[in-house]
Amino acid sequence: MGRGSTMRGESSAKDGKTPLLPLLLGLMNLSVVSWAWTAPDCTIADASLLPRLSYYIPFCSLAPGLHFFASCSNVKDLAQTLTAIPEKIEVLCLQGTIPVLPIDAFAKFSSLQLLRLQLGPIKITSGVFQGLDQLQHLSFEHHVPCCLNLFLSPDALEPLRSLHSLSFEGYCLNSSQNIQLPISLSHLTLRHSCLTELQELQGIFQNLVPGSSHTASSIPWSISVEVLDLSGNLQLSQVGIGALHGLQLQSLRLDGTPVSAVGLPASGLLHLDSLSLVDKGIEKMPENVTNYFTLRALNLGKNKIQNIEDGDFSSCHSLEVLSLHANGLKFLSPKFLSALPQLQRFNLSMNKLGSTLVLPQGLISSNLRVLDLSYNELYTLPYGAFSSLPQLQELWLSGNYIANLSSENFQGLRCLTTLDLSWNQIKVLKPDCFSSLLALTSLNLLGTYLERVSGNQLQGPQELNHLQLGSFMMLDIYPPWPPALLSLEVWTETLLQFSVPSGEPFLFLENLTIQTTYVKLLQKNITLHFPSLRYLTLRGCDPYIFTSHLSERFFPQLPALEHLHFWSDHNGPSDLSLSGMPSLRVLELGDLDYFSKSSSSVKLEVLLKELPQLQVLALSNLNVGNLSVLSLQDLSPLRLLLLNSEWTLGLDSSLQELIPQMPQYVYFSDITFTCQCESSWVGPWAARAPNTYVYGLEKSICMANASDYSQTPLLSFLSSHCPHDAEFQSFLASFILVLLLTTLALLVCPKWPWLHHVRTVLHAWWLKLGGRGPRSQFHYDVFISYCVENQDWVLKELVPALEKPPPSGGGLRLCLPERDFGVGQDRMDAMIASMENSRTTLCVLSCEALGSPWCNLELRLATYHLIARPGTARLLLLFLDPIDRWQLHSYNRLLRWLQKEDYFDLSQGKVEWNAFCEQLRRRLRKAGQERED
Ligand SMILES: *[C@@H]1O[C@H](CO)[C@@H](O)[C@H](O)[C@H]1NC(C)=O
Ligand SMILES: *[C@@H]1O[C@H](CO)[C@@H](O)[C@H](O)[C@H]1NC(C)=O
Ligand SMILES: *[C@@H]1O[C@H](CO)[C@@H](O)[C@H](O)[C@H]1NC(C)=O
Ligand SMILES: *[C@@H]1O[C@H](CO)[C@@H](O)[C@H](O)[C@H]1NC(C)=O
Ligand SMILES: *[C@@H]1O[C@H](CO)[C@@H](O)[C@H](O)[C@H]1NC(C)=O
Repeated sequence: MGRGSTMRGESSAKDGKTPLLPLLLGLMNLSVVSWAWTAPDCTIADASLLPRLSYYIPFCSLAPGLHFFASCSNVKDLAQTLTAIPEKIEVLCLQGTIPVLPIDAFAKFSSLQLLRLQLGPIKITSGVFQGLDQLQHLSFEHHVPCCLNLFLSPDALEPLRSLHSLSFEGYCLNSSQNIQLPISLSHLTLRHSCLTELQELQGIFQNLVPGSSHTASSIPWSISVEVLDLSGNLQLSQVGIGALHGLQLQSLRLDGTPVSAVGLPASGLLHLDSLSLVDKGIEKMPENVTNYFTLRALNLGKNKIQNIEDGDFSSCHSLEVLSLHANGLKFLSPKFLSALPQLQRFNLSMNKLGSTLVLPQGLISSNLRVLDLSYNELYTLPYGAFSSLPQLQELWLSGNYIANLSSENFQGLRCLTTLDLSWNQIKVLKPDCFSSLLALTSLNLLGTYLERVSGNQLQGPQELNHLQLGSFMMLDIYPPWPPALLSLEVWTETLLQFSVPSGEPFLFLENLTIQTTYVKLLQKNITLHFPSLRYLTLRGCDPYIFTSHLSERFFPQLPALEHLHFWSDHNGPSDLSLSGMPSLRVLELGDLDYFSKSSSSVKLEVLLKELPQLQVLALSNLNVGNLSVLSLQDLSPLRLLLLNSEWTLGLDSSLQELIPQMPQYVYFSDITFTCQCESSWVGPWAARAPNTYVYGLEKSICMANASDYSQTPLLSFLSSHCPHDAEFQSFLASFILVLLLTTLALLVCPKWPWLHHVRTVLHAWWLKLGGRGPRSQFHYDVFISYCVENQDWVLKELVPALEKPPPSGGGLRLCLPERDFGVGQDRMDAMIASMENSRTTLCVLSCEALGSPWCNLELRLATYHLIARPGTARLLLLFLDPIDRWQLHSYNRLLRWLQKEDYFDLSQGKVEWNAFCEQLRRRLRKAGQERED
């Protein structure tokens, strides 16, 4: 029997004559340039996928409605960093040192809406922000020590036609810089800067204050900034007469500045509406200010106003919002409300009113909607205390020492919707204590000493939908549940018991949060139903809550559950099951120790198998050990995978098989890996992961053994200790090929004429791969893939045996690249088309085959079929040589996908040639039939 040589062939050099290699390289370059895979030192994330994402990975504070962000740190080469960032991001945060921003730096991010720059002393010339038409928020930040220089050329902001807010923090702007502000600007912030007087604003911004600048005449318009924030300017002490004359400002913040508010009326501001004077050491209500402006909002928090006497509010008629939090306020004149007829929100939190507070008695005409008396050392609420405030909607009484509540306390509060009584000394609730609060929707009783709460105590409010209950050690809760309850949160140290004699369901409950160790039902044989529950958060709970014995389980079925956040108490159960949650999309698991225990019967794969819709999986502190393809297969809808706080994590090489299906976002945060070459694929993968954003590998370290504290960076261990993984590279190349060619965006790229050429073929092939295309008539039974070195054997031995008509041969129609491809036909076209036109693909493997990019590519394409639709035999392997383990590494992995009869080992002379032929023919026929089914 003729056999190929067993010498390992030179790998790719032989293929110089084919267009494959340059083509692959071209594709890889193209792909690296145009799609972002890993961006070093950057996090790319979609905050809408996981609400608590910022807990795990570096975040970038977003504006409402924005989700898709990139946050980069240690940026030194801006162009290089930005190459790796996808063009469609909405938010970009950059931290590092870049002295000069290049022209057109951000031109490709046309959807960018928020840009936050923390880049040290910086120079920005015109043209830097070209193309940012959609940008709404721009900020320059530097945190302590104040201040850095920032040079901004006068017209640098001109392209930002949608800019809404502009912020400089920790920067000094040259007072003759003459920056032209975009006309759309409405919020301007200049915090922790070196302003000494308001006058300087005229020189810094040429069109901020109308008619002030020498160049202003050339600009026909001036802008209308509504909000100006100058907080934290520690040297700002002068106002300057007429400094802001003509500025149509509505809101001004001077928090923490030494400038005296007394001078403000002289500045020329006319229409000020809202003024914030927090943390300025003020001891008395600043009367001339309130006299001069018809203010609607005044914030005097963190000052030193200790007493408020009768006359103090005489000039505040127009105030709607007043905050006096954290002033050490000891006395408040009982007549204050009659002096503030418009007042709607009054914040008195963190004062010392407890012993003296007297609320006005009798009916006064008050508009007060929100009253905050939290942290005020209140021991009791006087009877009828709030009866004079019939309009009150929110009452905040958290953090006081209130022990007794009765219905008289809340008499007259017909409009109250929100009542916060958390962190008080409440021990008993009288049955009717909330009975007069007919409009109540939200009640907070966290941090009390209640030991039982019954629905009877909550009777009165028909619309109560948001309830928070907390107790010290244990809490028993009894029905009837408030009928409209949508959200329930319960905290207690040890035990939460639901005492439900007849299984009253929580019919409408959508959100349930529980923080305790044990959750129990009083009666064992009752099931508590949560038919509408969508968000379940469990913190510190014993994992027994999800025992696999359905009858003993607290939540047997959660048909509507979408988010499960389950952090346990570090106890490893012997079993755990997440069945009965068919709609689960987001799963966060933390602090479960069982994966480490060899006795544990719980396997990640078993747990996840029950969750077909899972899109987000975040695992923290689980001791998962080695992660292999077994753990994560079947997770095709998964979009985000996050591993957090893991110790000696191994990423098995079998995971490579999943690369085509890897989630779009893969994050590693605070992980210590095991130093093992099994993981050597992750380096190249992370650097070039097709359609996956990987974060956190550069920062990860690995340990060789339990006593290795050398803090070896994972990637440097892999590159110095593990053989260069050329095989992975070729896998990646072939995979990228498949991926690229099936992505229309790239197919239509005009620069690549050959793409056009193969497009039709591949498109059809792809459709069929997905099972969507029309069923074709197969031209061939078997496509045979082999390399030149094995050609002799294939042509002389294999082909006759399979092709000759029965009985001497198999009577199969074979396709052989060397024989059946037309002269001059593009080999790749032909190959893919032929594979598609054949019932099955037989790969002849020898040492040479392993080194040949051709065989590799063919094998990989076939593998891809297999992974895309596992269970259907399409690939048969024939081993000609005894191939050593290291070489075979990745092919061996394939064996898991294959059935035993899908591969044949001819290397050891194990198989009789005739028997082999017969088996092969049978198998080929079977594979063909399976494929047609
Ligand atoms: C402001 O800029 C002008 C012109 O660039 C320069 O002459 C001046 O020294 C700068 N002033 C300060 C305080 O940096
Ligand atoms: C009162 O002010 C404090 C401090 O700014 C704030 O945290 C709190 O939310 C405010 N209360 C209300 C009801 O807005
Ligand atoms: C339930 O929780 C989610 C996520 O925290 C929140 O978006 C939603 O508004 C909550 N629903 C209710 C009814 O409180
Ligand atoms: C993980 O895999 C490595 C290499 O295959 C092996 O040495 C190690 O014992 C495995 N660890 C666990 C926890 O299974
Ligand atoms: C643990 O690993 C370190 C670093 O590779 C090595 O120097 C040391 O000998 C190892 N110790 C044991 C007990 O294997």
